[in-house]
Amino acid sequence: MFSSRRFKRDIVTLPEFILERQKDFPYAKGDLTTLLNDIGVAAKIVSREVRKAGLVNILGEMGTENVQGERQKKLDVFADQQFIAALRQGGVACGVASEEQDEFIAFDDQLYLGHPYVVAIDPLDGSSNIDVNVSIGTIFSIYRITESNRTAKIEDFLQPGRELVAAGYVIYGSSTMLVFTTGRGVNGFTLDPSIGEFCLSHENIRIPETGPFYSINEGNLRDCGQGVQDFIGWCKGSNDEGATPLSGRYIGSLVADFHRNLIKGGIYVYPATKKAPLGKLRLLYECNPLAFIVEQAGGMATDGHRPIMDYQPRELHQRVPLFIGSPKLVNKAMEFILTEAVSP
Ligand code: AHG
Ligand code: MN
Ligand code: MN
Repeated sequence: MFSSRRFKRDIVTLPEFILERQKDFPYAKGDLTTLLNDIGVAAKIVSREVRKAGLVNILGEMGTENVQGERQKKLDVFADQQFIAALRQGGVACGVASEEQDEFIAFDDQLYLGHPYVVAIDPLDGSSNIDVNVSIGTIFSIYRITESNRTAKIEDFLQPGRELVAAGYVIYGSSTMLVFTTGRGVNGFTLDPSIGEFCLSHENIRIPETGPFYSINEGNLRDCGQGVQDFIGWCKGSNDEGATPLSGRYIGSLVADFHRNLIKGGIYVYPATKKAPLGKLRLLYECNPLAFIVEQAGGMATDGHRPIMDYQPRELHQRVPLFIGSPKLVNKAMEFILTEAVSP
């Protein structure tokens, strides 16, 4: 149980928790504290807008396309602006790379010299679910710049996941939660709207070794490799006589599918397909941050062959296949893929 002489009541808010834990943070302690709190504030603003999405004229497509040719929704744009503004104003980050921006943004004013962090972010994940009142999220990665006293450069963003200082996600679900790690376990905070604070609700999250769920867009299955098809067959119980099938669960919001499997146990798969030979999900601001979290919770994240966190990124919007979740299920998926690779 989280305990401290400083706290005499049951509720521990996100700022209190971060302040108390900052002695464990790497590097300049106060900077990361400020950055995580800034992200928390932007998340509350986005959550507020998500909650009233059906009430105001913010639903629907904005009519522009992002760099990857996807239609942008209004809330995507709003969330993008909020997180970038919070980071620019916060005084700790010197740059940000966002799914919604073609190039990274370097805060290149003199004011930002000496700001040690860059952030890669998917401001609104699962945006096709906005209009239908289904859970969506935000995913973020925090890296330290590779050389001090300058503004952000491309190499600061193209660091392997192993170099992450912190990562997290926000889920705008039946409640709003923020889950993050700084490399010392994973903790989850639920937004209490009555006091406007994220409160510690899921301390030291551990993913179950195995679990009841598999999550994949099965509509793509015949366009996936034989190993993936065989693994999904195994999930359905068709390979082991008498085995209980896993349950299929697919929301179509990575954050929501990942969060369920993190808490209950399971595997999320977005493999290479004929249409998307590198998969669909983005390394920097979808796969790496969730890989850091799942490893910290005792789980695994691979591309089917090797850990996601070992990738040396080559570009901001790089895509990778993703197998993430309970370690026994990810290992099983990798067995099938390996068998496919060696069979004639
Ligand atoms: P985003 O809304 O940030 O573009 O991400 C959408 C992603 C991810 O959230 C989800 O798991 C996946 O796309 C769903 O893709 P399919 O519709 O191809 O299954
Ligand atoms: Mn996304
Ligand atoms: Mn997105």
